[in-house]
Amino acid sequence: MAKKKLNIGLMGCGFMGRTHSNAYCKVGKFFDLGYEPVLKAACARIEDKDKLEPFAENWGWQSTETDWRKMVERDDIDVIDIVAPNNTHHDIAIAAAKAGKIVLCEKPLAMNSAQGLEMAEAVEAAGVANMIWFNYRRVPAITLAKQLIDEGRLGRIFHYRAKYLQDWTISADVPQGGQTLWRLDAAVAGSGVTGDLLAHSIDTAIWLIGGVDKVTAMTETFIKERATQDDPSVRKPVLIDDACAFLAKFKNGALATFESTRYARGRKNQNTFEVNGEKGSVCFDLEDPHQLQYYDHSDDAHVVGWRTILVTDSHHPYMKQWWVPGCTIGYEHTFVHALADFLKGLETGTFTTPTFREGLETQRVCDAALKSAKTEAWEKVEG
Ligand SMILES: NC(=O)c1ccc[n+]([C@@H]2O[C@H](COP(=O)([O-])OP(=O)(O)OC[C@H]3O[C@@H](n4cnc5c(N)ncnc54)[C@H](O)[C@@H]3O)[C@@H](O)[C@H]2O)c1
Repeated sequence: MAKKKLNIGLMGCGFMGRTHSNAYCKVGKFFDLGYEPVLKAACARIEDKDKLEPFAENWGWQSTETDWRKMVERDDIDVIDIVAPNNTHHDIAIAAAKAGKIVLCEKPLAMNSAQGLEMAEAVEAAGVANMIWFNYRRVPAITLAKQLIDEGRLGRIFHYRAKYLQDWTISADVPQGGQTLWRLDAAVAGSGVTGDLLAHSIDTAIWLIGGVDKVTAMTETFIKERATQDDPSVRKPVLIDDACAFLAKFKNGALATFESTRYARGRKNQNTFEVNGEKGSVCFDLEDPHQLQYYDHSDDAHVVGWRTILVTDSHHPYMKQWWVPGCTIGYEHTFVHALADFLKGLETGTFTTPTFREGLETQRVCDAALKSAKTEAWEKVEG
């Protein structure tokens, strides 16, 4: 059967521009879908024009733009996919929704939950399909953890324990802002590790366990002033959180701890969580992404213990689309999976999760944690 073409307009050509381009190129080769993404146009800031042209040529984007508004106005674009820094998400998403486009957006949804609410309301008012790219939900081992929890194998959940650790900003010589270091500039990123890293852990937590009721947090900015990337002679205060740790209570009574930093020497992108329930536990570490640790208390006493499930068999989530049992897949596949699920959702008329509304829930937990770090009190999560 002929596939329906879906013309994609990609907003950004950096790190996520590459992961998403790869997903658009691969998805139809590995998943049987009614929609075929067409790489219609890629957009970047005029300052990045020299990177945009080779990027477009490499991935096969048919045309380029350097003004996002022009892209949104184009009649030949069906989907606007936002892979630009956080301070662009709000305006682009709302304009795209108003223009009737399908809107996909990288995480975090917005700079704060006030913006996030406007974005969720805009896509809902326009009735357009939307998704936020919390790609870790689509790591097969994490999807399997969700399956085990939903099957009741862990029973009542007591604990969620998450860490997201990096070490790339320890040197005081790393500048802030500019084209590549916008993550250190609060005016572009919104927040530091809370929105950048913990948003992933929070999304996974909400997906696995349910909504968060309240939080109490502490944050720290270890290096208080940095040179700016655009002009090294200008030094400015650092306004993002370098590290954040918080306690949370879920609406269902379970407890959680979340910790994130860019100052964990030796940790490049360690994203881990453990869930403890009445009947069992699961544990995941992105540094071993094809494995899920599982403890089943109902095992016979002489064999009970943590087991390692190698999540590569055809009966594991997503894996029958790839190679043969024992052959692992990686980071880039999580974006292919998210896209495949989204395109299936379009076919069946269901909005694939996480929607902007769900991204807003995560944003509200981030906001509550950042507020609590200031007030030094427990803060209720809005909504
Ligand atoms: N899901 C994940 O695991 C993950 C990982 C990294 C980044 N992200 C998110 O993806 C987004 C992009 O991050 P990145 O690492 O790809 O950034 P990047 O710096 O590598 O690339 C940003 C791109 O956005 C473009 N851009 C900037 N302002 C623009 C504008 N006004 N209009 C059009 N294009 C513009 C730049 O030209 C550049 O091509 C961020 O929101 C980030 O939080 C998600």
